[in-house]
Amino acid sequence: MTNSTARETSSVATRREARGGPAGPAAAAEPLGSLVNPFDVQSVRKDFPILSTKVNGKPLVYLDNGATTQKPNAVIDRISRYYREENANIHRGVYHLSQVATEAYEDARRKVARFINAPDEREVIFTRGTTEAINLVAATYARSVLKPGDEILVSSLEHHSNIVPWQIAAGATGARVRVIPIDDDGDLLLDEYAKLLSGRTKIVAVNHVSNALGTINEVRTICNLARRAGAKVLVDGAQWVAHFPTDVREIGCDFYAFSGHKLFGPTGIGVLWGQRELLEAMPPYMGGGDMIESVTFEKTTYAQLPNKFEAGTPDIAGAIGLGAAIDYVTGVGFDAFHDHEQRLLSYATDQLKKIPGLRVIGTAKKKAGVISFVLEDPALSALDAGTRLDREGVAVRTGHHCCQPLMARFNVPATIRASFAFYNTTEDVDALVAALKKIRSEAGAKSPVIAAPQRGAGATKEPTIQFPEASAPSPAAAADEFADVFEMLDDRDARNEYVLDLGAKLPQAFDTLKGLGIPRVPGCMSEVYLIGRMDPGSAERLQFAADANAEIVRGLIAILQKLFSGQRAADVLAFDVEGFFRRIGLDQFISAQRRNGLAGMVRRIKSLAAEVAGGGKNGNE
Ligand SMILES: Cc1ncc(COP(=O)(O)O)c(C=O)c1O
Repeated sequence: MTNSTARETSSVATRREARGGPAGPAAAAEPLGSLVNPFDVQSVRKDFPILSTKVNGKPLVYLDNGATTQKPNAVIDRISRYYREENANIHRGVYHLSQVATEAYEDARRKVARFINAPDEREVIFTRGTTEAINLVAATYARSVLKPGDEILVSSLEHHSNIVPWQIAAGATGARVRVIPIDDDGDLLLDEYAKLLSGRTKIVAVNHVSNALGTINEVRTICNLARRAGAKVLVDGAQWVAHFPTDVREIGCDFYAFSGHKLFGPTGIGVLWGQRELLEAMPPYMGGGDMIESVTFEKTTYAQLPNKFEAGTPDIAGAIGLGAAIDYVTGVGFDAFHDHEQRLLSYATDQLKKIPGLRVIGTAKKKAGVISFVLEDPALSALDAGTRLDREGVAVRTGHHCCQPLMARFNVPATIRASFAFYNTTEDVDALVAALKKIRSEAGAKSPVIAAPQRGAGATKEPTIQFPEASAPSPAAAADEFADVFEMLDDRDARNEYVLDLGAKLPQAFDTLKGLGIPRVPGCMSEVYLIGRMDPGSAERLQFAADANAEIVRGLIAILQKLFSGQRAADVLAFDVEGFFRRIGLDQFISAQRRNGLAGMVRRIKSLAAEVAGGGKNGNE
C-alpha cells in the first residue's frame, strides 16, 4: 500500500475524493482481521440495493462480477435524474436542455480521461463496450495498416472479443493471427512472446486481467517489448478497471478498452482510449450524424476527435451514468478496497481447495478476484453446478466464459467461475463453499448410477445402446402432447424442473457413447454424444440415442427423442422444430448458448434423418 488511506474506514463520510493507491495486487494476502481499520464492506453494500434482495428465497450471493457488476444508488439515481431533468440530444441544440445534456456528457468524458490518466480528453471515445472498442480498432486502424504477411499477436488468455475482430481484420488483409502461449498456471510466457515479436508484428492485443482465470498480465513489459519491435498494443482492460487504478501513460499502450457495466456503471457504454496521433490518422468507423465536418455528395470531411468516432446519437445517459460510477468508485477509493479484494481471493482459494474433487484452474502468480474451478470427483458439469448453486441463491458464471481456446488449452469444456467485487464478503465465500459441499454430496450419492455402463440383456461384456421407439404417431403428435404439458406448467421454474425430470429419466449412456469414439455434437457447451440408425423394423424410420454430461441437456435430449426417435425420417425433416420450441416457450428457461447446443443436436438429428430418407447407410452406427 502506498499511503495511509489504505487503512481508512470507507464510511460514506470518510471516502476519499481523490484516486491513488497501489500499483497492483498484493503479493501475498494478509490474514483476515489483521488490519487495524479494515475496509468497511457493510457500509458500501448499503449503496447497492440489489445486494439485499433474495433469490429462490435465499439472500443473493452475487459472485458474477466478471460478467457485470451491480450498480450503486449513485449511478441509478444519476441516470434517473438525467431522464427526469436533463434529457435532450447533445451537440445539436442551441436551447438550454441540449446544452445541459451536452455538458453532462462531455463532463463524463473528462471524468473518464482523469480516471485512466489520459493525456487528452479528446482521446476518449465512447463506445458500446469493450467489444465495440476492439472492433473499432480492428476495423479501422488494423485494416488500414495491415498487409499480407503482417502479424497480429493475441494471447491464449483472450476473450473472444479480443480474438475474433483480429481474425476478421487478418482475413480481410492477408495478415495472420499468432498466439502467445501460457504455462499451466495461466501465466503468459513472456519469453515466447519476445520470440514471436518481429518486424512483421504490427499489433499486439492482450487483456490486462483474464476474465476466465484472473491472471494479471504484465502489460507494461508487453508494451515495452512491442514498442521495440515497432508494434502497437491494444490492452483489453474490461476486467481490470473495477479493481485497480488505471494509468494508460504508465502502461505505455496505444489503445485501452473497457466496459462501463463492469465498473459499476450501466450497460451499453464503454470506452476506447487511443493515442491521439493514431486516432487522428485512423479512418472513421461508422458514418453518420455528428462525426462529420461537412458533407456534400462529392466529398465528406470528418469531425475532429472524439466526434469522428461517435457517429449518431450516443448513449448519453449511459455515459453520464458511467461518469457517476467513476465518481463513486474513486470516492470509495481503490486503495481502500485493494487489500479487501485480495484477502477475499486468497480466502476463497484456500476454502475451495479444501473441497475434495475440486480443481482450481488458473493459479497465476498475480491474480485479480477471479477463481475458476471444475468439480471432478464426483464429476459434475459446470452447468449443473451453476444451476444448483442458483437454487442456493449463489450466482456464479459457468461455461467457457467466451474463452474457448483457453478452455481447450486446459482441456476442459467449461469451468465454474466466482468473480469478486469490493462489496463481496467472506460470508459470500462461505455461502459458495457450503453450497458446493451440499451439491457435491448430492452428486456423490448419484454418481455410481451415472458411471454404470449400459449392458445388453444377457449379453457378454459389450454394452448395448437403447434406441427408443416412436412415442407418438408423428413428431407433430408428440409435439402436441408436450405443448399440453408445458401449458399446464405456468412458470419458468416449473418448466425447468420438468425438463430436468425428463433428463433424470433418460437412460444413462454417456460413458458408452463417449467410449465409441464418435465426435461430440458441435456447438454444445457440455459434452454431448449422439448416434443414430435406421429402425431395424422399418427402413424409413430413424432412431437415435444420445447423452450429455449436464442434467438440463439430458432433459433436452429426452424431448428430442420423444419428438423424433422412431419417427419416419421424412416427418423428422419436415417438422418445424423451431416453431415447436417457440410454442413451448423454451426461450424462457434455456439460455442462448444452450439454444446453440440444442440447434447443434437438431442439426445432427436432421442430417441423420436425411441419410435414412435417402436410403443411406445405417446412420453413424
Ligand atoms: C476480458 C474481457 N474482454 C472483453 C469483454 C467483452 O465485454 P463487453 O461484452 O462488455 O463488450 C469481456 C466481457 O466479459 C471480458 O471479460
